[in-house]
Amino acid sequence: MEAKDFSVLPRHVAVIMDGNGRWAKKRGLPRTAGHIEGAKTFRKIGEYAGDLGIRHITFYAFSTENWSRPENEVAAIMRLFNEYLEEARERLEESIQKGIRLRFLGDRSRIDPDLLELMDFMEAATAEGKKVNLNIAINYGGQQELLQAVQSIAEDAASGRISAADVDAAMIENRLYTAGQPPVDLMIRPSGEQRLSNFLLWQSAYAEFWYSDVLWPDFTEQDFDEALKAYEKRNRRFGGV
Ligand code: IPE
Ligand code: IPE
Ligand code: MG
Repeated sequence: MEAKDFSVLPRHVAVIMDGNGRWAKKRGLPRTAGHIEGAKTFRKIGEYAGDLGIRHITFYAFSTENWSRPENEVAAIMRLFNEYLEEARERLEESIQKGIRLRFLGDRSRIDPDLLELMDFMEAATAEGKKVNLNIAINYGGQQELLQAVQSIAEDAASGRISAADVDAAMIENRLYTAGQPPVDLMIRPSGEQRLSNFLLWQSAYAEFWYSDVLWPDFTEQDFDEALKAYEKRNRRFGGV
């Protein structure tokens, strides 16, 4: 399918990759098996979105709340993330040719130093990518993101670099992990849950929501098409008439 098959494409799609655990449970497998399958779906849908011409796509991989999970599950998710990055590094030339810019959203202070090094490397190596912004939210929390933006503004105010009256929406946006990227147009959440779970709170102010009962490891290109088709029909008013 090509981009022209849709009359209107969202500029920014956000995906909450949920339901890995339930997918595994249904099969009598450990939760980590669900994460392995989910990571494959992530690769598939990320590539597909790029092929369709989606300019910004953000995948929720690990939340600031997900640290509360069993240690072995957290370790498995981080290991999968590391594997993906190593693979992405090996395929760097291909990504550069496709114009992919890889970015990571979230608080980096708790990320393992080796992993962080790989993240920094990939961000720098793809920084010139102009076609697809592929964001991965890792140790991301919308409240944490706003909190660190407020702290940095407060520091500037305390040191006299800015005054309270200078604070505006653009200043906040520029201090979010998504600085320079458009707001979310379409928020996709599979697995039957209908909540944001602390994802992109500011950026989703006017996002259209699309939910599905399909568990993330079962999510297909057809499901993604369905979300885009639903988006095409939405009447976005942004508070107007
Ligand atoms: C989403 O799947 C993956 C992460 C949160 C990292 P879950 O692991 O939340 O799967 P369920 O919701 O328990 O089925
Ligand atoms: C949201 O899923 C986080 C990610 C997909 C990374 P959760 O499974 O953590 O969300 P809740 O706990 O159901 O709200
Ligand atoms: Mg979940």
